[in-house]
Amino acid sequence: MINKKKPKIWYGGDYNPDQWEKPIWDEDVRMFKLAGIDVATLNVFAWAKNQPNEETYDFGWLDEMMDKLHANGIGVCLATSTGAHPAWMARKYPDVTRVDFDGRKRKFGGRHNSCPNSPNYRLFSVRMAEKLAERYKDHPALLIWHVSNEYGGYCYCDNCAAAFRVWLRKRYGTLDEVNRVWNTAFWGHTFYDWEDIVPPSGISEEWRGANGRTETNFQGISLDYRRFQSDSLLECYELENDALKKHTPDIPVTTNLMGAYKELDYHKWARKMDVVSWDNYPAADTPFSYTAMMHDLMRGLKEGQPFMLMEQTPSQQNWQPYNALKRPGVMKLWSYQAVARGADTVMFFQLRRSIGACEKYHGAVIEHVGHEHTRVFRECAGLGAELHALGDRLLDSRFDAKVAILFDWDNWWAIEMSSGPTIELQYVKELHKYYAALYKANIAVDVIGVDADISGYDIVLAPVLYMVKPGIAEKLEAYVSGGGALVTTFFSGIVDENDRVVTGGYPGKLRKLLGIWAEEIDALLPSKRNRIVLNSGAELPRAEYDCGMLCDLIHSEGAEIKAVYGDDFYRGMPALTVNRFGDGEAWYLATSPEQQFLDDWLPRLCASHGIAPLLEGAPDGVETTVRVKDGAEYLFVLNHNEAPVTVTLGNEPVTDLIGGRTLSGSAELPGRDLWILRR
Ligand code: GLA
Ligand code: ZN
Repeated sequence: MINKKKPKIWYGGDYNPDQWEKPIWDEDVRMFKLAGIDVATLNVFAWAKNQPNEETYDFGWLDEMMDKLHANGIGVCLATSTGAHPAWMARKYPDVTRVDFDGRKRKFGGRHNSCPNSPNYRLFSVRMAEKLAERYKDHPALLIWHVSNEYGGYCYCDNCAAAFRVWLRKRYGTLDEVNRVWNTAFWGHTFYDWEDIVPPSGISEEWRGANGRTETNFQGISLDYRRFQSDSLLECYELENDALKKHTPDIPVTTNLMGAYKELDYHKWARKMDVVSWDNYPAADTPFSYTAMMHDLMRGLKEGQPFMLMEQTPSQQNWQPYNALKRPGVMKLWSYQAVARGADTVMFFQLRRSIGACEKYHGAVIEHVGHEHTRVFRECAGLGAELHALGDRLLDSRFDAKVAILFDWDNWWAIEMSSGPTIELQYVKELHKYYAALYKANIAVDVIGVDADISGYDIVLAPVLYMVKPGIAEKLEAYVSGGGALVTTFFSGIVDENDRVVTGGYPGKLRKLLGIWAEEIDALLPSKRNRIVLNSGAELPRAEYDCGMLCDLIHSEGAEIKAVYGDDFYRGMPALTVNRFGDGEAWYLATSPEQQFLDDWLPRLCASHGIAPLLEGAPDGVETTVRVKDGAEYLFVLNHNEAPVTVTLGNEPVTDLIGGRTLSGSAELPGRDLWILRR
């Protein structure tokens, strides 16, 4: 449990008193208490202040602030300050700065800017973590460690190149094996010496393509470089973690993740983290279902263990093109959306708004005006009081989903650097279509990694499972033959973990399980569509649906054909099949359908497996989840609409934990409001 030392939903966020003169500190604390804030994240970017030169460490400000917060009942999420290195370090030890994608050696500037394989960065960051741990190990305010900040980005320097070669040796043993798995016989790329291998970047194998893609000549090299950079940054995390644990073995350690952040394989990261925490910054037009999927993805990183909402803005952001205010009620609603999906903390960036540099127009609990008489402050204080009243009731409660969606970083990387058949295929966007259909139907879903245990799910969705890593096909076969239902789609089963095609017919190792053979893959121009035409017996509200982007031309090898293509030279070939395999069934959807198809089909598939919506007949724009604890179920009903809705709750009276009202039958839920109903 995250909140052992302070058993309630933690409420607070990033606080940067190091950017302010002292007289304001007492004013801050006064207002934190007014807002019900009980956790502050300190020291995120204070390395320069803590260590003004190589020899000097000065934590005076932090000592004073930790004491002051503690004296006022506020706990601390203590960062290690290593998310941005100090200027003296960059000047004295140039290896700490990165080389970018275009091969340019970076100068001092920005943040999250340190080379993960820089010996000096590692030395100084670990030393800093250790100093902090030694100093604050017995401080009563210390609740949790926050290592660095939003790890990310890649480096292409010579130290990284050397470390990459070591990483490759460890993974593949010999250079012959590297040549084999990367298929370097192509274009005469054979490597004769480890030194021949250089990072794939804008000055070697890669370039920036359309649709935000990074293209590459050699998928094998590029995939391994991503794995290696993700591992390198993770090593930095682990080194700091180990230094902290030496002195504070019982204080949990985390770092703030960023949802579907492409550069880092968070499934691997989460195994090294005590607690998952993440920063949620939807834009004003981000679908609610997308935010929900991100929460579920973050919850899935550690088998459903609750996570921390480490950051969100109280109202406005600064880094999006258009930074709309959160409308009245929205901050509270989105905070509870996180709680509804497994967050045991609600925290902000930032508690007081800075006055200079690029985040001065980023929302804060305390705005530039400096007092508490603002809309944003009032809303924050309102939520603070509610979270206080909720106490520990929801802490450590779990989700109970019967449907899982598989999400895999390697697969994501490989799909979006595949060089054909289409640049339109975007992994997360495609997954979100499946998620959104279930979200609309109020069916609970877990988003989990391909390595996760799937035996407890009735349905597993694996859209575009392009890369099938060792053991995965066998695992899926065992799952289906044991009675599970698997749904996978076009462009699945094509390659192994090195992006080498599995020969002998697509979908490779999934062919037997799916009972089909995909002979060809058509890529449609954006202006072109095909149709999914249902065979009789496949009962959906419509007889046919639109589809496009990619169309696999498949033959049944035993699978039952549920729908066929309506157009083009492959008209009449299967578009949707199901194969009975052991006690279960394996579905193959051969093309990318219009959303309505999934909205119609997936809830029916769920129903046929006895999976019901969490709330029958919920109006549009109403999101529901259930968190379960000690035999009690907490049904969250969130109304994302501006207008009130009428919700049918059934005859059993239920009590709303927030408003305290007892409800039954149909009840009106105001716009942008919610209930947490105990049942
Ligand atoms: C991230 C960072 C914060 C801050 C916010 C602004 O989440 O971790 O330091 O820059 O973004 O939205
Ligand atoms: Zn580097």
